Amino acid sequence: MTTSIRTQVGILGAGPAGLQLAHLLQRAGIDSVVIDGRSREDIEGTVKAGILESPAVEVLVDTDVVSRDYVETMRHDGIEFHFDGHAHRFDFPALTGKGVYLYPQHEVLKDQIKARVAAGVTPLFEHLADKVVDGPNGPMIVGKNAQGEAFEISADFVIGADGSMSIAREYVTGNKFSGMAREYPFGWYGILVEAPPSSEELIYSRSEEGFVLISTRDEHIQRMYFQCDPNMDVNAVTDEQIWDKLQAGVSTHELKRGPIFRKDVLKFRSYVHDSLRKNKVFLMGDAAHTVPPTGAKGLNLAFSDVLWLNRALREYYRSGSEQFLDSYQEDALKRIWKATNYSYMMTTMLHIAPDATEFDKKRQVADLYTHTESLAGQTFIAEGYVGWDYSADDWR
Ligand code: PHB
Repeated sequence: MTTSIRTQVGILGAGPAGLQLAHLLQRAGIDSVVIDGRSREDIEGTVKAGILESPAVEVLVDTDVVSRDYVETMRHDGIEFHFDGHAHRFDFPALTGKGVYLYPQHEVLKDQIKARVAAGVTPLFEHLADKVVDGPNGPMIVGKNAQGEAFEISADFVIGADGSMSIAREYVTGNKFSGMAREYPFGWYGILVEAPPSSEELIYSRSEEGFVLISTRDEHIQRMYFQCDPNMDVNAVTDEQIWDKLQAGVSTHELKRGPIFRKDVLKFRSYVHDSLRKNKVFLMGDAAHTVPPTGAKGLNLAFSDVLWLNRALREYYRSGSEQFLDSYQEDALKRIWKATNYSYMMTTMLHIAPDATEFDKKRQVADLYTHTESLAGQTFIAEGYVGWDYSADDWR
């Protein structure tokens, strides 16, 4: 037997984008159903990065997902660039009046899920969508739950917030892989380590050995990365070699070592889908775009899509006007491309390509001086990092 559900907005994916859209729509009296193939424990338990831009935090605080006091404990007011024997600190409040928040994605998700549960509309976990189809009354999501029972969700609109392997994308673009991509000839070797923080602020380092990032999760767990071949075997280096590679990037600090309890190799690329809508089905978040992690933009970019769609759907249900639904793709793509450019620029400025010539390396160091020696250069980096203000500001 198939379980049938009717709602106004069917949302694929209980990630930060899907959950936030459901939350904002509910505040405007619009019904939605969020589904995800994973279990709640799985979603909440997967430790993920998270630098939240100031504007994204404003949305979470203003809509009561998280308290201002709590979020302020996670504030970071700067990052450092290390290169050519120099350490440069970007002072975010001085340059932009804002900070960023080290609010790991799984913690954001826990708070968002708590808000959904408190509102009486728990997402449907372990509901694996198979595809989006045209139904008699609008688009339909069809799939199976963990018990193998079929379900269908019929909606006025379906939103694909189902990540880089989106099934909604197949409906929208006709195939899974349309769009524009840029591959990078390097990736990151990441570790999670049980140790106190080695640095108060994040360090982005470029040396002749390549890129290193020193980040943190909390007082007891640190996250660090070094540039590697994207096809490298995770077991190809010893712990001693890992520490040597990390330490090579930060001559100013003695890294605090401890047991490494997770190692992974991250491949990355830039991807922008050229089509974000077909009929009443829309794409947002990683279903619509992917950026390399160097600029810490991924999660924040998803929030911008959410605000555009929130505005479009509110206007539709308020007045019947499809004006903002029609302009969603153009509106969202502007920031998507700005963030794509910023992430590309941060990535290429700080990594050494395997085929880099002496000319390339000298130009790269000059680029780093250009962005650190002048106030204009520093402001450019800081503005992109703390986040440009969202244009759709009617979320409250
Ligand atoms: C992380 O903590 O995993 C992290 C921080 C900043 C980035 C990327 C990843 O740019």
